[in-house]
Amino acid sequence: MTPPRDNIGFPHRHLLGIEGLSQTEITLLLDLADTYVEQNRRTDKKLTTLRGRTLINLFFESSTRTRTSFELAGKRLGADVINMAVAVSSIKKGETLIDTAMTLNAMHPDVLVVRHPESGAVSLLSEKVNCVVINGGDGSHEHPTQALLDALTIRRRKGRLGGLLVAICGDILHSRVARSNIHLLNTMGARVRVVAPPTLIPAEAQRLGVEVYHDMANGLRDCDIVMMLRLQLERMRGSFVPSVREYFHFYGLDYAKLAVAKPDALIMHPGPMNRGVEIDSEVADDIDRSVIREQVEMGVAVRMACLDLLTRVLPEAGAPRP
Ligand code: CP
Repeated sequence: MTPPRDNIGFPHRHLLGIEGLSQTEITLLLDLADTYVEQNRRTDKKLTTLRGRTLINLFFESSTRTRTSFELAGKRLGADVINMAVAVSSIKKGETLIDTAMTLNAMHPDVLVVRHPESGAVSLLSEKVNCVVINGGDGSHEHPTQALLDALTIRRRKGRLGGLLVAICGDILHSRVARSNIHLLNTMGARVRVVAPPTLIPAEAQRLGVEVYHDMANGLRDCDIVMMLRLQLERMRGSFVPSVREYFHFYGLDYAKLAVAKPDALIMHPGPMNRGVEIDSEVADDIDRSVIREQVEMGVAVRMACLDLLTRVLPEAGAPRP
């Protein structure tokens, strides 16, 4: 049996969103993730923290970064990791999300990481199982580990989050990344602008506590961070932009538009990015200011921290379940 680990001030059973997390809890996660960044840079990356635990990745939408980094995070902490192949599962025979989750739950996993196209589906699932559930992205609602890895990237580069001016640009309407980042940055004391055509700004934007801009020249002025988002064509019903060419002309990040931001402004993108649509290729690859690859690296560390903290509330590995 693995020795018990202290539950040091993170009382949540699941991680379903950033909304509702306190500044202290976010800081705790980021501080722990920081230690895992160093661990991941070592030759021997493997730990035994989650030995005896089982993690199942259940992704109903495609993913490169989130699924792979949760798999790596689990394995580096010593857990057994299963990737459910939804395309060849019984979901294809009509089994519901809840029945699938309860079937997996009967196999006693410790953690389910779930991505689903419907907002709220992961929260619903979490009520039906008795393991930890982590939201890997639900519809246009939340993608909490993305916001945490973005925050870790920013904090390591800028030394803080509070007081920074962050512009989130592009398809805000359909973006769970934007929502999670807005909650996190507001909680941590940053100032957030959203920059997009009116058709891609959600009706509740003002309520989210952001400043709304419809042009890059004003929206990016004096920003510390420029976070670009892709057009989520798979969630669009109807036409939201006249054409991709026109969209890039007005909203695609290039050096001309970036010139109004602070000279040391960081360029971020959660990926996958569409070069020549929301971001110019040269800007995306700028070795001094683009931190897009660093965001991916921070993703593994943040997911290790989430797995570590959330499993501390579980019974010890090997103990009989109630
Ligand atoms: N940023 C992000 O969620 O990427 P994936 O869709 O590749 O997981």
